[in-house]
Amino acid sequence: MFTRRVAVVGTGYVGLTTGACLASLGHQVVCADIDTAKVERLRRGVVDILEPGLSELVAEQVTAGRLSFVVGASSAVSGFADGGDGSGQAEVVFLCLPTPMGVGGVADLRAVEAVVEETRELLAPGTVVVNKSTVPVGTAARTAELLDRADVAVVSNPEFLREGSAVHDFLNPDRIVVGCDTAEAAERVAALYARLGAPTVLTDASSSELMKYAANCFLAMKLSYVNAMAELCERVGADIGDVTEAIGYDRRIGQAFLSPGPGWGGSCLPKDTHALLQVADAADFEFRLLRATIDTNTRQRQRIVDKVRQAVTGRRTGSLTRVRLGLLGLTFKAGTDDLRDSPALAIAALLRQAGADLVGYDPALVGDPSNPDKPARTEVDGVPLVADPLEAAQGAEAVVVLTEWPVFRTLDWTAMAGVMKQPIVVDTRNLLDSATLRRAGLTGIGLGRRDTGAA
Ligand code: UDX
Repeated sequence: MFTRRVAVVGTGYVGLTTGACLASLGHQVVCADIDTAKVERLRRGVVDILEPGLSELVAEQVTAGRLSFVVGASSAVSGFADGGDGSGQAEVVFLCLPTPMGVGGVADLRAVEAVVEETRELLAPGTVVVNKSTVPVGTAARTAELLDRADVAVVSNPEFLREGSAVHDFLNPDRIVVGCDTAEAAERVAALYARLGAPTVLTDASSSELMKYAANCFLAMKLSYVNAMAELCERVGADIGDVTEAIGYDRRIGQAFLSPGPGWGGSCLPKDTHALLQVADAADFEFRLLRATIDTNTRQRQRIVDKVRQAVTGRRTGSLTRVRLGLLGLTFKAGTDDLRDSPALAIAALLRQAGADLVGYDPALVGDPSNPDKPARTEVDGVPLVADPLEAAQGAEAVVVLTEWPVFRTLDWTAMAGVMKQPIVVDTRNLLDSATLRRAGLTGIGLGRRDTGAA
């Protein structure tokens, strides 16, 4: 079988998933991180992030001898056992590095630049450097310039992993995209994934870099559209669930990504929408549709606060000062412990500003008693956390569901109602069954739902 020596620099969601999955496809993989303690933990088989199947896959590939962890990019690049061809060097180097949003929404490329600087002299002739992080259009060209090595190609190969299903998404991709101005290097990277049998788009580096933004911004636009449509449903007495089900049967639209919510968040969509706006501004293109997508999302958070205010006080201008609220779910979506750009936290901040007294519960933040590296969180962004939902409901004037954790559906809502000061549940994910809430004596208020009414 065809295998390559692959170095993966960065062991975050993208890097660790890429490393473990490429190893599972038969490649020899060395993953590097600058965080010595993290590398130590990975060597002991401890995976810090909550990602279904990832720790099992890491353990399996380490045992199979195809995956190992080192400190520092340079050790990864030259960290392979000599395969008999005189080379202990990586043939392909994946950069899976953070590209946080810097000043004015421009992606901050310092991590990529530092690794390029560290490794440029060490790369064997013919090495392919692959950028897997979402980076501004032109980064492959800039990386090639920094490398200044005519014998090393730079390729863009964007990832499409969703947190919470990263391993599944990697091994079952809708498509593989490889962008490079040298066809041979692009084909070499595409060949790493050959066993997955996915449709593969080979293109130039800029198109590949742009398409990642095009995909994520389209998804953000779809969600802002649905959230706006849910609001319209409330005004005209329609039901968003029925509307989205019906439009979803249109194959051109599709059923996925049509659930209204407290606004989209996470580590990608907010960053990528702002970054694409920057790309457009720099190209002197006024991308009004994208700006409206972002504005609609910002407004959605305030809309949730207004809903809570109306539900609890019965008035649009009622005061939330010292009103106790129980928040269920703080992560940016279910199935992850990631709090980055979580709409739940943005809403919590607005509620706190309005004077509310908050208590939060999230199943991903209660810690793992069997893992000392995973202690329970006691607060997040000033919101005290409790260990169970009932405690969060205690004395609350409303419970606000902010993350779509399935476990919230089957809570003992009668017991919850029993400890609350007012029997109100604001369900920003349209997650809960209205009849169950009614039976428990609770008034449920969702988004654009006929059966829970609008607030
Ligand atoms: C996203 C992209 O899906 C992925 O392809 C890309 O590589 C990284 O960014 P992720 O950030 O893990 O993945 O989250 P995703 O599942 O896409 O959800 C993004 C946000 O949209 C979350 O806040 C989520 O709660 C929200 N969402 C999603 C909805 O409100 N409704 C939906 O129907 C789907």
